[in-house]
Order: sequence, then structure tokens, then C-alpha cells
Amino acid sequence: MSTTTVVSPSIANEIPHVPEQLYLVERAKFAENFNRRPFMLDHSLSGHPAFTMDRLHSLLERSLSIPKKVYWNAGKKRIDQRWDDRPGRDFSIDEAFRRIRETDAWIVIFGADRDPEIHDLLEKGLAEVQEMTGIPLSKEAKSRECIIFITSPHRVTEYHIDRECSMLMQVYGKKTIHVFDKTDREVLSEEEIERFWTADTNAAIYKPHLQSRASSFLLEPGKAIHIPINAPHWLENGDDISVSVNQNFVFLDQKLGNVYRANYYARKMGFTPLPPGRSQTRDLIKAHGMRIPNFLVRRAKAIGKTLQRKEAQ
Ligand SMILES: [Fe+2]
Repeated sequence: MSTTTVVSPSIANEIPHVPEQLYLVERAKFAENFNRRPFMLDHSLSGHPAFTMDRLHSLLERSLSIPKKVYWNAGKKRIDQRWDDRPGRDFSIDEAFRRIRETDAWIVIFGADRDPEIHDLLEKGLAEVQEMTGIPLSKEAKSRECIIFITSPHRVTEYHIDRECSMLMQVYGKKTIHVFDKTDREVLSEEEIERFWTADTNAAIYKPHLQSRASSFLLEPGKAIHIPINAPHWLENGDDISVSVNQNFVFLDQKLGNVYRANYYARKMGFTPLPPGRSQTRDLIKAHGMRIPNFLVRRAKAIGKTLQRKEAQ
């Protein structure tokens, strides 16, 4: 199938396989804000041959047979809708891709760094992030991945939080991202974060009356944004289709995630747990404690369910 009628981004053939610098940003600004607050930066992937629509279509076709490497849905979505609340669709993913201008589709290719060329690009990005932050992500990150988002004009990506921190690079089209302060507990409560890490990836609840607290960034080709772990965000595409490349790192999952999971179960048992960051000792106990006693976790879940049932009576 030819996809050349869909879009033909201008390709600069002279772009080297791996550019000298992937992320173009002031080093001090990057180090100071990394995983603390969102910030924009420039990148050099826009127009790179690895991200033409033909190449992306080929990558999509190769990814379809691998479990959990492709996700898509189509149809209008609201900011506050859940991931699993999917609009109906009566066409294939191939058609969604070919007619991306009109299908209201959101196509996600996970693990895009299976492509050797994309892998090399992202390794370069990893090296730069490590160098700028001093964080040995290649050792500390539980996982790291490249995800590609291909979306229809005006398509909304629902409000959510992520377990990884990301560099989101716009390579084609424009989109606006609205990012909230991850420490604002009116926007994102402790309970929502605890539920997110433990039981429900859609636990973050959009609060329209607090929209003015978001920082809004226009992503154009060559622009990128850094999104910290658990910073709530939602996105809306511009008039054209959009292609974005995401480099992400899961590197605090055990520490931060385990504390929130411990707090989730403690709250279920009627306690008011101390949020992470207030006591190093308690955080350490929770982070390590949650790794050991699976039987206790199961017991806590059972107690939680019992309490929920009692509360509902
Ligand atoms: Fe996200």
C-alpha cells in the first residue's frame, strides 16, 4: 500500500543518520528542571528520514504481530474521557493510518526503537540526557522506550499522568500540550496518585475549573517538551496531522511507585499516610517493604475490598 497520498513531509536528505546533537537546550536549564517541571527545548529529529509516513507505515506493519506494541482508537474524545472508553470504529488500523486526516485516529507505536535507525537516535538522546543531568539512566531506568504518536487533525489526547518522564519531540504538524504542576495537590490529589500507581492508570481526574493553572506549550516541528513523572497533561492537535516521537525513562518506579502503593493500602486500612518526600526513613521502608511481602499485599487488598464494601453499605 502506498501512503504517499497521506502526507509527504519535506525530507532533508542531507540530515545525518545520527545528528551531532539531538537535544538543543541550555545544559543548566535542562539539569535544573529535569523531572521537576515541564520545559520546552529544540531537537533535531524533525525531517529525519526515519520518521517519514512511509517509514512509519512500514514500522506499524512490522509491529502489528508483536503483542502490545500497537494501540489505536478512532473517534472524537473528550479531555476527561478514560483510556478504555473507546469510541466505536468500523475500519482497520491500516485504513486509520492511510486516512489519518479524516479518521479522528490516535495511533501509538510502542518500542519504536526496535527500528535500528531509531534505536541509534534514541541512544544518542539517552547519552545527552545522562550527560546533562548526571543521572545514570542506562543503569537506573527500569525501562526506556521510544513511542511514536500519529494523530488526526484536532484530535484530543485525554487528560492523564504517566509513570515515566518523557521528552516529547514534534516531528510533523502542530499540537498544543497543557501541562499541570505535578506538586499541585488541588489539581492532582495524593489519593489519585496512589490509585494510579496501584490500581487504575486512569486515576487522575480532570478538573475543568483548574484548567487556568496549566502551562500551555505549542509544539511545532523541531520543538520538544519535557514532561516530568506524574505531571498531569492533555493535548490537542492543530489543523494538520501530527507525528510526535517520545523518548521516555521509567527510573523511579520502585522508589516512588512503591511508596504510593504502600500509601494506597495504608489508606484503605483507615490510616492517613504520609506523602512521599516528607520522611526519608518512612519512604525507604515503604519502598523496600513493598517489594517483599506479596502475601501481605494480597491481604491488604482483601482488607481494602472489605472496607470498601462496608463503606458502601
Ligand atoms: Fe502522556
